[in-house]
Amino acid sequence: MMRERTQIGDYIRELCLPEDSVLDTFEQDVAAAGMPAIQVPAELGKLLGMLVRLTGARRVLEIGTLGGYSAAWMARALPSDGRVVTLEKSTKHAAFARTFLERAGVGDKVEIMLGAALETLPSLLERGDPQFDMVFIDADKAAYPAYLDWSLRLVRSGGVIVGDNVLRGGKVLEPGDDADLNGLAEFNLHATSSPLLDALIIPNRGGEDGILVAVVK
Ligand code: SAH
Ligand code: DHB
Ligand code: MG
Repeated sequence: MMRERTQIGDYIRELCLPEDSVLDTFEQDVAAAGMPAIQVPAELGKLLGMLVRLTGARRVLEIGTLGGYSAAWMARALPSDGRVVTLEKSTKHAAFARTFLERAGVGDKVEIMLGAALETLPSLLERGDPQFDMVFIDADKAAYPAYLDWSLRLVRSGGVIVGDNVLRGGKVLEPGDDADLNGLAEFNLHATSSPLLDALIIPNRGGEDGILVAVVK
């Protein structure tokens, strides 16, 4: 018998994800705050943490904080001197994330930069920090191509670039005049054809969406 996709998701989460009193209440907390519950699914949070470990990352960049859920997964996977810098344009989302990240025990590992990412990204270059080991792109989809260009400047060779929501139920195959879908289609095309990257699109969310994972050569 064919199983429902949600059953497969439940099966994976049951086997692979330990209960966590802070992370497990994120969805209801973020909705109660009147914010969209569009955080990554738990199993993708875990994968992001595993990528942090696999790359030996100490510096992670995130574009699109929301309430700090994915940032918490990545920060928890970092060594004690590791840092996540996460970019968020909404004051409300950033304030929620600050509180949530403290509760998740990683407040001291995460810097939230408030402002539109295309305005805060240049300051990361200007302040002369070392390059990042990993970037997670998860903000406004129309700007994904620009975020990819910035990532190529900010992530070290051997580092990893991850983009969320790159399939959108297959809608990315026929983007029409939708700015978000066109942004995602262009992002996928550039990332997979760039001689600087080795990229793979991996379906997730029971095939309803996908992530792009690229290693910087
Ligand atoms: N990564 C989060 C989810 C991010 S949702 C998680 O998985 O937990 C996308 C977020 O990007 C929203 O909070 C939205 O306010 C923010 N955002 C949208 N456009 C932005 C922009 N131009 N600059 C910075 N943040 C932006
Ligand atoms: C939306 C954005 C996301 O980053 C996501 O993971 C799911 C949905 C959205 O804008 O609808
Ligand atoms: Mg997303």
